[in-house]
Parts: sequence; structure tokens; C-alpha cells
Amino acid sequence: MQTSALLKRWRRWVAGWAVSAVLAAPALAQQPDTEACVNCHERVNPGIVAQWRSSEHAKAKVLCSQCHAAEKTDPDAYEHHGSTIATIVSPKDCGECHAKEFAEQKGSHHAKAGQILGSLDNLLGEVVGGPPAVDAGCRQCHGSVVRLGLDHKPTKDTWPNTGMGRINPDGSWGSCSACHARHEFSVRQARQPEACGKCHLGPDHPQIEVWNESKHGVMYHANRESMNLDANPWRAGQEYFSGPTCSSCHMSAGGRQPVTHDVGERLSWTLRPAISVKLNLVAFEGDAKEDILGDAPTLPKVGDLFHLGAAPDRKVTAVLTWQDRRARMQEVCSQCHDKSFVEGAYSQFDEVVVLFNDKFAKPAKAIIDELRATKRITPVDFDDPIEWTWYELWHHQGRRARHGAAMQGPDYTWWHGMYEVAKTFYQEFLPQVKEVAGEDGYKALLDKYVYTIPGHQWHRDGMSKDALQRIQDFYRQRYGQ
Ligand code: HEC
Ligand code: HEC
Ligand code: HEC
Ligand code: HEC
Ligand code: HEC
Ligand code: HEC
Ligand code: HEC
Ligand code: HEC
Repeated sequence: MQTSALLKRWRRWVAGWAVSAVLAAPALAQQPDTEACVNCHERVNPGIVAQWRSSEHAKAKVLCSQCHAAEKTDPDAYEHHGSTIATIVSPKDCGECHAKEFAEQKGSHHAKAGQILGSLDNLLGEVVGGPPAVDAGCRQCHGSVVRLGLDHKPTKDTWPNTGMGRINPDGSWGSCSACHARHEFSVRQARQPEACGKCHLGPDHPQIEVWNESKHGVMYHANRESMNLDANPWRAGQEYFSGPTCSSCHMSAGGRQPVTHDVGERLSWTLRPAISVKLNLVAFEGDAKEDILGDAPTLPKVGDLFHLGAAPDRKVTAVLTWQDRRARMQEVCSQCHDKSFVEGAYSQFDEVVVLFNDKFAKPAKAIIDELRATKRITPVDFDDPIEWTWYELWHHQGRRARHGAAMQGPDYTWWHGMYEVAKTFYQEFLPQVKEVAGEDGYKALLDKYVYTIPGHQWHRDGMSKDALQRIQDFYRQRYGQ
């Protein structure tokens, strides 16, 4: 829907006003087209109408037509039993009544989740896999570009889709129903971890598995009924005090922290790339946001004109350093834990990230780069076995270790994480280096990038006699073998 249309704005405004002024609501409820929608759809798809009836929207008399109405000139408008409607209801459409949530979502990584075309993963999906797997796979999480057919309805290959960064016919990015399933659009449902778990799972980002095994997940499952999931507001340590959900830490209120629809606001690291880096946030006029990477980069000040790369200059409206972002998350933790406990948890997390970065990711990346530069492997990704090994090392195993440490899932930090990283590094990656670089090349690369790191010296020098003896004693004492 093209929401710039004044008429529609006016209709929505009247509706919003009618909602607050309850008196006016009955008149609206009798609006002919809406009765028609409900009456007819009650027969065609009773489930949709039942969902809507159970929603806060129905209680507040937000009607079918208020979300689906379109102007004849909108690219996705079509005639439907006497009304002009559109199927897609974009974040911009919701934003006419929920301006704050729309503004926060707009510049977030969630809204940008459809911008994956240039990534290594996309090469893997489109070329190494195949396009149908991208439509029904990647794009169901990341979002499709919704295209329209001659009938102005979304095409079958690009919709249904509630991917997080969906690109809508009105140009807006995202899908509010990625978390608030239609037609209930409930906060209760979105506060539960399953709302996030459709996408945040699996070998490369197992957040829901990590959370389920954490004490937080355990406490949540044990006390779900006493979590007051319908409360408004819903503040950590007040309306509930047991295991926090994804939303508690990344979105919901706690202490002075208000609800945010930018899930990245409280993050200090990015755990996604091969080598993790710190994140600083710069917000611009028009609700755009960019991460600036690094421990202590030069950041602009509020009011400055500033740009990144080829983007035009824009006025800076807010700056959050990585320390500010971390402080926001820690304020939420502190509603249920004391300061030293929270700092301890963060220190354990930071140490794992630094271990993975310095001991495994940096040397492995340097070796891959040198193998490419010296033409011992081709510049094409995924045609040499060692490229698959390297990809799984950082993209799957290394992320799992980091996510486990960030969210208190010890089995992911170690067995699904660092254990796999170490096994892959020593037992697959290094032997493959030997295969492509030859005996001498291998030795030179290891001396240059690997054995300079104390944590790898055991691999060259063996274990000390003492360490070996300790292990023998342990098994003899415990199991007699
Ligand atoms: C006379 C009956 C009738 C009325 C009135 C009606 N619809 Fe429908 N609508 C249908 C039928 C039938 C379908 C096809 C759905 C199906 O087969 O399950 C449909 C489909 C839709 C679709 C999906 C279309 C697509 O192909 O993508 C939307 C959205 C929709 N209706 C919204 C509305 C809204 C909003 C109103 C009120 C302004 C409304 N309808 C009024 C009968 C009706
Ligand atoms: C709060 C806004 C909102 C209201 C109110 C609303 N819808 Fe929807 N509707 C949506 C959204 C969002 C979608 C998903 C479309 C998309 O992917 O953007 C949708 C999709 C649909 C679809 C097609 C998808 C499907 O599951 O079949 C139909 C049909 C539909 N709505 C009918 C209705 C009817 C009938 C009513 C009133 C009883 C109604 N809607 C009220 C937001 C709304
Ligand atoms: C099950 C849902 C799901 C599927 C399927 C999926 N992804 Fe993702 N993807 C995610 C999530 C969730 C993240 C963020 C993970 C995190 O932050 O830990 C992500 C992260 C990414 C990133 C990193 C973005 C950044 O800012 O660094 C890229 C690129 C990416 N995915 C591309 C793809 C491609 C291409 C495919 C298909 C070949 C795909 N993904 C399949 C859910 C999915
Ligand atoms: C990543 C999941 C997610 C997405 C996407 C999302 N929401 Fe929410 N939303 C939530 C959660 C979780 C809450 C509950 C916050 C709390 O604890 O109060 C919420 C709360 C709300 C509320 C209630 C107001 C409040 O402050 O509690 C509104 C209104 C809302 N969302 C609208 C939207 C709109 C509009 C969009 C699209 C622009 C959207 N949401 C997208 C997860 C999401
Ligand atoms: C015509 C105005 C209007 C539109 C359009 C609209 N909403 Fe709402 N929404 C309301 C009103 C009014 C309420 C109830 C009062 C409140 O919580 O603000 C509400 C409540 C909500 C809530 C809180 C529900 C709860 O369980 O407490 C969510 C979530 C929400 N809307 C999401 C959406 C999404 C997503 C869209 C777009 C698909 C949307 N709304 C479109 C007016 C609207
Ligand atoms: C107890 C609070 C807490 C809970 C509960 C929680 N997280 Fe996190 N999450 C964190 C912290 C802390 C970080 C790392 C923050 C930083 O970088 O400073 C993080 C990081 C992340 C990241 C960024 C990963 C990356 O690759 O950069 C994602 C995505 C994420 N969490 C999703 C989730 C999901 C989904 C759930 C629920 C299944 C969840 N979180 C539950 C605290 C939490
Ligand atoms: C429909 C799929 C989907 C759902 C549902 C979803 N996410 Fe995400 N999320 C993604 C994708 C994809 C990314 C990576 C976006 C990118 O950077 O390209 C992401 C990124 C994130 C990040 C990293 C943000 C940043 O700034 O780096 C956090 C934190 C996160 N999600 C938390 C959540 C929480 C909490 C929920 C549930 C309330 C949730 N997500 C629901 C797909 C989803
Ligand atoms: C809503 C309350 C709440 C919030 C918010 C919260 N926690 Fe917890 N946390 C708990 C509860 C309850 C336990 C279980 C306590 C126990 O073991 O007796 C727990 C346990 C822990 C543990 C111990 C894990 C274990 O396996 O023993 C750590 C570490 C932890 N939380 C860190 C954090 C961090 C870091 C944050 C913020 C990013 C946070 N928590 C946010 C309630 C919370």
C-alpha cells in the first residue's frame, strides 16, 4: 500500500481517534465495508476472523479495512467485492498508528535482513545450492522482495513471506508479523522465545537452543504461568522475576530501559563475522542507523553531518558507544542480579570471544588469505575443500561457541562450540593446509601464523611429562584403568 495517500491517512487517523474516544467507535464498527469483510470472511476463512476478534485490535475497533485499505493508485491495490484493498500490510502501514515502533524498527538490522545479496551465504544459496532453496529457505527468514503480478497481487514465488527484512511494494523494509503473528498481533505471543526461534536456531545461530539449555530457559519453563506475559508494562524484576526470554533482554523494559524495537541496541559485540568486533551505533535523521566497528573508533557527535562509505552526509541524532550499548543490557540484567555477578558473566563471555578471535579465527584467516594470494587455492569460494572447512569453522562452530558464552549455554560454548573448533582446526584445516601448500609451505605457514601463539605450542612441542602423568593418574584413580 502507498501510505502517502492523504485519504487513507485521514481514515486511519479518524479510526485512531475513534479508538481513544470510545464513544465514536460504534459508528465505525457499522461502516458497511467492514461488516462485509467480517461477514463474508467469517464464512470463507473463519480462522482469520476468529483471530482478529480475539485481538486487542478488535477490542479497540481497528477494522479489517483500516489495515488492508488501499488507494487505487497504490501499486498493490486491487478491487475486492466493492472495496479497494491490498494484501500486504507493511511496517509503514502499521506505523501510521504505531509510529514509535516503526521508527525503531526502521533502522535496525532486522529491517535490513533482506540485504544479503552480496554475502558469501548468498553465493552458497543461489549458486552452490539453487534458487528454489533460497525462496523457501533463506528468504523465509531474511525476507523476499515482494513482487506483484498483473492482478496487483503478490506473486507466488515471493509471497507468502514474513521474512524479517522483507522488501515491500511501498518501499518499506520488514514485516511486523514476523513476530506478532496475524491476526492476533499480540505482545504475549511476541514475548515468548518461540517467536524468535523460527529464525534464531540451527547450526550457525542456535540462540533458542542455547537459551533452552541455559538456567534462564530452565527457570522460564518452570515458571511460565507466573511470568505475567500479558502485563503492560512488562518489566524485568517487577511484573516477573524468573527466567528472562529473548525479548526481556533484547527488547522489553527493565530498570530505566524502555521497550525497543531495535534488537541491536543492547549489543556490544557482533558475533557474526569470522573475527568478532565491537559495535558503536550512530543514528541519523530519518531513523537511519549504522554500526561503526572497533574498540575506540572516531565517532561523530550529535548534530554533526556525517557519512559512511559512499552514503551522502546526514545529520547525526544519537551516538551510542559499545560501552553505552552494553550498559543498557546490563541495566536489564541488574534488575535480577547484582553488579559483580553481571560483570563476571560478561567477563567470561568476553574471554571466549577473544580466545576464538586470537587463537583460531585470525591465524586461520591469515592462512586462507595467503593461500589465495600465492594461488595455491583459487579465488572462487567453495571450490576447494579447505574453504568449506574454514567456513564451518567460523560460521558454524565459532559462532556457536560465542553464542553459548553470550547467553549462558555451556554445552554450546564447549561441546558444540570450541571443541568442534579445535577438532576442525587441528584435524581438518591443518592437514588440508599441508595438502595444498606441500610439506615446506605448511611448515612455513605454521611457523608464521600458528606457533607464534602460545595456545598452539603444544601441537609442535607436545605435552609436558607432568601433564601426561596427571591424566594417567586421574583415570587410574577414578576407573582403575
Ligand atoms: C463477498 C465476500 C467477500 C467480501 C465482502 C470480502 N472478501 Fe476478502 N476474500 C473473499 C474470498 C472468497 C477470498 C479468497 C479467499 C479464499 O478463497 O480463501 C478473499 C480474499 C481476500 C484477501 C486475500 C486476497 C489475495 O488473493 O491475496 C484479502 C487480503 C481479503 N480478502 C481482505 C478483505 C477485506 C479487507 C475485505 C473488506 C474490505 C474483504 N476481504 C471483503 C471474499 C470476500
Ligand atoms: C492490524 C492490521 C490488520 C487487520 C486489522 C487485519 N489484517 Fe488481514 N492481514 C494483516 C497482515 C499484516 C497480513 C499479512 C500480509 C503480509 O504479509 O503483509 C494480513 C493478511 C490477510 C489475508 C491474507 C493472508 C491469509 O492468511 O490468508 C487475509 C485474507 C486477510 N488479512 C483478511 C483480513 C480480514 C478479513 C480482516 C478483518 C477480520 C483483517 N484481515 C484484519 C493485517 C491486518
Ligand atoms: C532459519 C532462518 C534462516 C535461514 C534459513 C537463513 N538465515 Fe541467514 N541469518 C538468520 C539469522 C537469525 C541471522 C542472524 C544470526 C545472528 O545474529 O547470530 C542470519 C545471518 C545471516 C547473515 C549475516 C548478516 C550480517 O549482518 O552479518 C547473512 C549474510 C545471511 N544470514 C544470509 C543467509 C543466506 C544467503 C541464506 C540462505 C542460503 C540464509 N541466510 C539462511 C536466519 C536465517
Ligand atoms: C523481533 C520481533 C518483533 C517485531 C519484528 C516487531 N515487534 Fe512489536 N513487539 C515485540 C515484543 C517482544 C513486544 C513486547 C515488548 C514488551 O515486553 O512490552 C512488542 C510490542 C509491541 C507493541 C506494544 C507496545 C509496547 O510498547 O509494548 C506494539 C504496538 C508493537 N509491538 C508494534 C509493532 C510494529 C508496528 C512492528 C513493525 C514495525 C513490530 N511491532 C515488529 C516484538 C516484535
Ligand atoms: C488504525 C490504527 C492501527 C493500525 C493500522 C494498526 N494498529 Fe496495532 N493497535 C492499534 C490500537 C488502537 C491498539 C490497542 C491500544 C494500544 O495498545 O495501543 C493496538 C495494539 C497493538 C498491539 C498490542 C497488542 C497487545 O497484545 O497488547 C500490537 C502488537 C499491534 N497493535 C501491532 C500492530 C501491527 C503489527 C500492525 C500492522 C500489521 C498494526 N498494529 C496496525 C491501532 C492500530
Ligand atoms: C539473559 C539475557 C539474554 C537472553 C534471555 C537472550 N539473550 Fe541474546 N544476547 C544476550 C547478550 C548479553 C548478548 C551479547 C551482547 C553483546 O554483544 O554485548 C546476546 C547476543 C545475541 C545475538 C547477537 C548474536 C551475534 O551473532 O552477534 C542474537 C541474535 C541474540 N542474542 C538473540 C537471542 C534470542 C533469539 C534469544 C532467545 C532464544 C536470546 N537472544 C536470549 C543476552 C540475552
Ligand atoms: C523471521 C526471522 C526472525 C525472527 C522471527 C527474529 N529474528 Fe532476529 N534476526 C533475524 C535475521 C535474519 C537477523 C540478521 C539480520 C542481518 O544483520 O542481516 C537477525 C538479527 C537479530 C539480532 C542482531 C541484531 C544486530 O543489530 O546485530 C538480534 C539481537 C535479534 N535478531 C534478536 C531477535 C529477537 C529477540 C527476536 C524475537 C523477539 C527475533 N530476533 C526474531 C531473523 C529473525
Ligand atoms: C528476569 C530476571 C533475570 C534477568 C533480567 C536476567 N537473569 Fe540471569 N538469572 C535469572 C534467574 C532466575 C537465574 C537462575 C538463578 C539460580 O541459578 O538460582 C539466573 C541465572 C543466571 C546465571 C547463572 C547461570 C548458571 O548456569 O548458573 C547467569 C550467569 C546469569 N543469570 C546472567 C545474566 C545476565 C548476564 C543477564 C543480562 C544479560 C541476566 N542474567 C538477566 C534471572 C534473570
